Amino acid sequence: MGRNLRRFLRTLREDVQAVIDRDPAARSGFEVILTTPGLHAIWIHRVSHVLFSNGIPILPRLIAHFARFVTGIEIHPGARIGRGFFIDHGMGVVIGETAEIGNNVTIYQGVTLGIYHTSNVTQLRGTKRHPTLRDGVTVTVGAKILGAITVGEHAIVGAGSVVTKDVPAHTTVVGIPGRVVVERDPTTGLARRVDRASPWSVDLPDPILEVIRCLHEKVMELDERISALDGGAGSQDLVREIGDLRDQMSRLVGVPGHSSGLDPR
Ligand SMILES: CC(C)(COP(=O)(O)OP(=O)(O)OC[C@H]1O[C@@H](n2cnc3c(N)ncnc32)[C@H](O)[C@@H]1OP(=O)(O)O)[C@@H](O)C(=O)NCCC(=O)NCCS
Repeated sequence: MGRNLRRFLRTLREDVQAVIDRDPAARSGFEVILTTPGLHAIWIHRVSHVLFSNGIPILPRLIAHFARFVTGIEIHPGARIGRGFFIDHGMGVVIGETAEIGNNVTIYQGVTLGIYHTSNVTQLRGTKRHPTLRDGVTVTVGAKILGAITVGEHAIVGAGSVVTKDVPAHTTVVGIPGRVVVERDPTTGLARRVDRASPWSVDLPDPILEVIRCLHEKVMELDERISALDGGAGSQDLVREIGDLRDQMSRLVGVPGHSSGLDPR
């Protein structure tokens, strides 16, 4: 038996083991082989990728199309996938042509590894335009990772996130746009919450935070103006209300409240 064939069979065995190791519902290798659509999609992909890499036209795409029909998982034959890859459930997974996936990566149903730009896409032909997932990455249900970005080793992408920028290794990213919320020590595995006190320190656009920030600034401005007024009984109530509103906004956006020097309480 040729060395390549032996290596190929070992890869298939590792794919089965990945399901057994990472799917709590898996009972036996035999059951896994018969009933895991993610495994079927990966195995079919491994065949179509070999054909694609050897320059065989059309057939690899036809095979991928068949796999999509049978499993609901679409993997372009050009995608490069490492060992121990596990797709749980799988329906709706899309993996683009220039995606690269390291070893022991797990993804769940509804994940897209797609392109970012949707205009002048023909100019992108032949260029790297899909994400790279390094070893040990987990991309959970429904997450979208867009563009030629890199998700670092053992990073976790939270359910429903949309990620368009590189993700540091050993972190958890959640939300739209994706934001780092947890960092893990690579040696001890100890997790540390990333301080949310200064959300703007993360260099990602967030329209909702932007609106809250504008409101916050407005409240600060009103607070300044009220505090400059002469303090009659009515204005004291107003001062108290504005003060409460200011404190709530400060907590919401995670920045220290700006005191006007007039404590309403
Ligand atoms: C991301 C995830 C894996 C948890 O990873 P983790 O590193 O353990 O992160 P934590 O649980 O410490 O969460 C950190 C913070 O992010 C928040 N968070 C977690 N996942 C989130 C998500 N998908 N969207 C928005 N916020 C999320 C948590 O609420 C927490 O914030 P809080 O402390 O203010 O409440 C998990 O939340 C997730 O998304 N699981 C989906 C798994 C899946 O695909 N299941 C389907 C199987 S069929």
